[in-house]
Amino acid sequence: MGADVRDLVFVPNATTGVNSVLRSLTFSLEDEILTTNHEYNACRNALDFIASRTGARVVVAKVPFPIDSPEQVVAAVIERVSPKTRLVLLDHVTSQTGLIFPIQELAKELQQRGVDTLVDGAHAPGMISLDLREIGVTYYAGNCHKWLCAPKGAAFLYVRRDKQSEIRPLTISHGTNSPRTDKTRFQLEFDWTGTDDPTAYMCVPEAIAFMGSLLPGGWTEWRQQNHQLVLQGRRLLCEALEVQPPCPEEMIGSMAVVPMPTTLENRDFMSIHDELFDKFGIQVQVMPWQEKPRLLVRISAQIYNTFEQYEYLAKVLKGLCC
Ligand SMILES: Cc1ncc(COP(=O)(O)O)c(C=O)c1O
Repeated sequence: MGADVRDLVFVPNATTGVNSVLRSLTFSLEDEILTTNHEYNACRNALDFIASRTGARVVVAKVPFPIDSPEQVVAAVIERVSPKTRLVLLDHVTSQTGLIFPIQELAKELQQRGVDTLVDGAHAPGMISLDLREIGVTYYAGNCHKWLCAPKGAAFLYVRRDKQSEIRPLTISHGTNSPRTDKTRFQLEFDWTGTDDPTAYMCVPEAIAFMGSLLPGGWTEWRQQNHQLVLQGRRLLCEALEVQPPCPEEMIGSMAVVPMPTTLENRDFMSIHDELFDKFGIQVQVMPWQEKPRLLVRISAQIYNTFEQYEYLAKVLKGLCC
């Protein structure tokens, strides 16, 4: 992750990491917290909860979708920064639209304006290369149980050194007054949040080593292979469904969204998901979107996926449309 070990703590999932930061900070009636219309629902709920308690205002930057370039993300976010903006919550890889947001550029622009950045990187570790020192964000929560293939319940929270005294776990336990001096207070508090099973955390080094050993080129080759496979899958689906790719290839890691044809727009997204699973044995995300295109299918490419699986999906989806 490119971070000093003293700046990272384990948390059970990215949602907990994001909540820990939001619930530790103090906001007032004067403050604005900025996010985007691509934000993951759970973290948006956390933001709304904090706002309702503190009187802070949630401001939503509208990032276009379909989108032509990463610069459009930066422009949309920066346009909504005001002198009242205290914090910006951004996804690194968006859940609904599968876009890689240009976090480094955003963090730089925001820092210049004196605004802190909280990044929800639930999908980033393992999917894209990550150097927390280089990207320069204030807070970053990432999952190890997604693309790193660690067991569920393994995630981390990064907090920049100068902010660590402010950020507390959701559960206050022994760490608060532990006499230990071999770790920082930040580590002591997050390391023990009551009796729990740390197995998932302890598997993370093994997951990193195992996944890195599967291809001769290690993680770099593996990420590249997944990226190429998802692009092939996306091309195939776009051709089969006769739709345009909604973003440039450079904004994709190993997840890509393809708009569903308008003939399917009036169908409930869950009924399509369930039909694909129950009738055809396909597990794929089908999601509504706020505007046209109203319905999206999100494919992923992991080391165990094959091109034939996307061919099968394309054939089945084409059958559903006609
Ligand atoms: C952007 C984003 N944030 C947060 C999450 C939630 O992850 P978790 O349930 O592990 O906290 C997800 C899950 O898909 C996600 O895509």
